[in-house]
Amino acid sequence: MKRIAVVPGDGIGIDVTREAMRVLRRVNDVFAAGLEFTEFDWGAEKYLREGVSLPTGAFDMLRKDFDAILFGAIGDPRVPDNKHAAEILLALRFGLDLYANVRPVRLFHERLCPLKGTGVADVNFTVIRENTEGAYVNAGGVFKRGTPDEVANQVEIHTRKGVERIIEYAFQFARRHGKTKVCMSDKSNVMAYAGDLWQRCFKEVAARYPDVQTSHLYVDALALLFVRQPKDFQVVVTNNMFGDIVTDLAAALQGGLGMAASGNINPNGVSLFEPVHGSSPPLAGKNIANPMGSILTSAMLLEHLGLTGAARAVENAVTACVNENKTTQDIGGKLGTREVGEAVVAKI
Ligand SMILES: NC(=O)c1ccc[n+]([C@@H]2O[C@H](COP(=O)([O-])OP(=O)(O)OC[C@H]3O[C@@H](n4cnc5c(N)ncnc54)[C@H](O)[C@@H]3O)[C@@H](O)[C@H]2O)c1
Repeated sequence: MKRIAVVPGDGIGIDVTREAMRVLRRVNDVFAAGLEFTEFDWGAEKYLREGVSLPTGAFDMLRKDFDAILFGAIGDPRVPDNKHAAEILLALRFGLDLYANVRPVRLFHERLCPLKGTGVADVNFTVIRENTEGAYVNAGGVFKRGTPDEVANQVEIHTRKGVERIIEYAFQFARRHGKTKVCMSDKSNVMAYAGDLWQRCFKEVAARYPDVQTSHLYVDALALLFVRQPKDFQVVVTNNMFGDIVTDLAAALQGGLGMAASGNINPNGVSLFEPVHGSSPPLAGKNIANPMGSILTSAMLLEHLGLTGAARAVENAVTACVNENKTTQDIGGKLGTREVGEAVVAKI
């Protein structure tokens, strides 16, 4: 038996997770996958009602009682500072040490790609984003706030341990998936201190993987080449903020945020799977949001749990639906969120 914690969260997180769950229940029936689900209501509603974002003991419970977490998205305009989001999603990433954010960039049909003459074979790479350090550690401070002499600084943290393990993860990932190329991206020409650490770690780790071809790109050049030559990439490893930004660009190559899946991985503990998109409040509850990102996320979860056949079946079902244009409006279809979920289920 595999125990899955389900956290739909806020906004369209709730809508798309419902469809991913529909798919996972189907997988349970067809593949006798033995998945057991427990849903948690962590999100804006609970925060506003009870003042609780992540209940005490949540980390220990997730670590001890669950094999994986399926997450929707967090963010609600009624919590203007998004405090609950930091206390739930960022806290889970840090608290469970989910240091590898794995974001596959895969085009399911050429009509979804805004680049002319780009086919499905041209867009198929994975960005491995460092997920626990960098600019996201909330370090820094302000001085003389609200005066003309105001000073703000925002500090990035890059540790030897953190940088080395994410680069190692990228090489391991490449080997596991039969990929032959790893590209590291940074901004070491101007961010010299962190850049130097990333550069040295990359060279040291690369030396242990002579079978893998390596390259380096400054992140601005990476952004250009994602658009001009996406076919050149197989595995890209980068820091937290650059990974955040370039994977939105990369999502555009796949048909938009509605198609992008991700895993937040701790190779030695429980991992969390979520679509790349946020809670998109304007679309929430309207049966409009594209559930494919969340459904593809559930395929990543299945693969992580060793249910490879089931994962492939979900991906193939998504491919079939996209080919037949059984999709939501954002990628040119006419169906609602629920109807897309049902169409994917019908293909499994
Ligand atoms: N991982 C997360 O939980 C996460 C990630 C990003 C943003 N957020 C939060 O989500 C809220 C909204 O943020 P945002 O608008 O910047 O990002 P967003 O990803 O919610 O939306 C960005 C754009 O993409 C569209 N979009 C996103 N997902 C879609 C889907 N499945 N189907 C169709 N269209 C889709 C939206 O309508 C919008 O136009 C904010 O509170 C933000 O902090 C949360």
